[in-house]
Amino acid sequence: MVVLSLQLLPSLPYASFVFGDSLVDAGNNDYLFTLSKADSPPYGIDFAPSGGRPTGRFTNGRTISDIIGMKTQSCQAMGETSFPPPYLAPNTSSNILSSGINYASGSSGILDETGSLFIGRVPLRQQINYFEETRGFMVRMVGENAAAKFLKTAIFSVTSGSNDILNYLEPSIPFLGKEKVAPAVLQDMMVSNLTLHLKHLHQLGARKFIVVGIGPLGCIPYVRALMLVENGKCSSVADRLIQGYNMKLSRKINQLNQEMGPETIFVFANSYQIVIEIIKNYRQYGFENVNDPCCGGSFPPFLCFRGPDAGSSSVLCKDRSKFVFWDAYHPTEATNIIIAKRLLDGDASAAYPVNVRRLYEYAS
Ligand SMILES: *[C@@H]1O[C@H](CO)[C@@H](O)[C@H](O)[C@H]1NC(C)=O
Ligand SMILES: *[C@@H]1O[C@H](CO)[C@@H](O)[C@H](O)[C@H]1NC(C)=O
Repeated sequence: MVVLSLQLLPSLPYASFVFGDSLVDAGNNDYLFTLSKADSPPYGIDFAPSGGRPTGRFTNGRTISDIIGMKTQSCQAMGETSFPPPYLAPNTSSNILSSGINYASGSSGILDETGSLFIGRVPLRQQINYFEETRGFMVRMVGENAAAKFLKTAIFSVTSGSNDILNYLEPSIPFLGKEKVAPAVLQDMMVSNLTLHLKHLHQLGARKFIVVGIGPLGCIPYVRALMLVENGKCSSVADRLIQGYNMKLSRKINQLNQEMGPETIFVFANSYQIVIEIIKNYRQYGFENVNDPCCGGSFPPFLCFRGPDAGSSSVLCKDRSKFVFWDAYHPTEATNIIIAKRLLDGDASAAYPVNVRRLYEYAS
């Protein structure tokens, strides 16, 4: 497990605590026995801090959370490039106060059962239990008051739910070991479980939240293949299910913002809206391909790894910046950069009630 330290810095940059699935996993699954790993090339090929080696991130470069958590220009100039390290990484030392911690785990979901087909993963509930341990460490080091004061300024982001939807859509996976529930029941169960988890984080001292909605999974290469959707189209079955969930979640977020008082703020990140806009207008955003993954080919089983001939580009597209999707499930860094910019500085259609930059500055 990550070795924690608490060094007081002259000026505190914001720390972020990252929870969620493979969209934001920074390497936790590398330390689990699981089928869901991004530990071999060409994953990470554009991730500069590792020199292009895989880090466990499920994309070619930075995740959305890496990008929105970037320190200010002046900190970068001072050599401050630390991303929140994966909680499960052994022998990594981390100054919690400057970077935070990443608890996210590929193939995990809001519901505890989600992702069991992949064997190892850390469900959201367990991620928060890990955070509770981190918090215990902080309290022992600096005391209850200082820990609480610090946590008030930190950013807590939760990016989960995609795998709950994917598991539900897959015909071969028994859902909760039973008959499938109705779509509305699934949506309500996800929202109510997520709400419990958010409230738990709040009890533990979290005050600034980013709650990321689910993107248009009906448009990802994997779901389009699963649902036999033609090029240029998305699965409307999947996207209706997701839109219903996002609607219910955003209403819940509004309600939480009213209930919890000015100390606490939940930002709903409307990744669905942002990604649909990119997909519809992909050429305007500089992309050339919105249908195929850059890595792993366009047909199942969509395996993205480097072939026996290391120089071979057969599994990898020529220009990664021209593809919306990196593999059959995940966006390229190029797409992540656009999403992150919209979340940081976009209007209420991207992030609500304030954008992420305002959230950073938010002080009650
Ligand atoms: C952690 O570091 C110690 C001492 O540096 C070393 O003996 C140990 O093998 C390391 N463990 C892992 C999992 O890398
Ligand atoms: C949370 O999800 C589980 C299934 O994982 C379900 O049985 C339970 O009823 C849900 N709890 C709430 C409060 O919705």
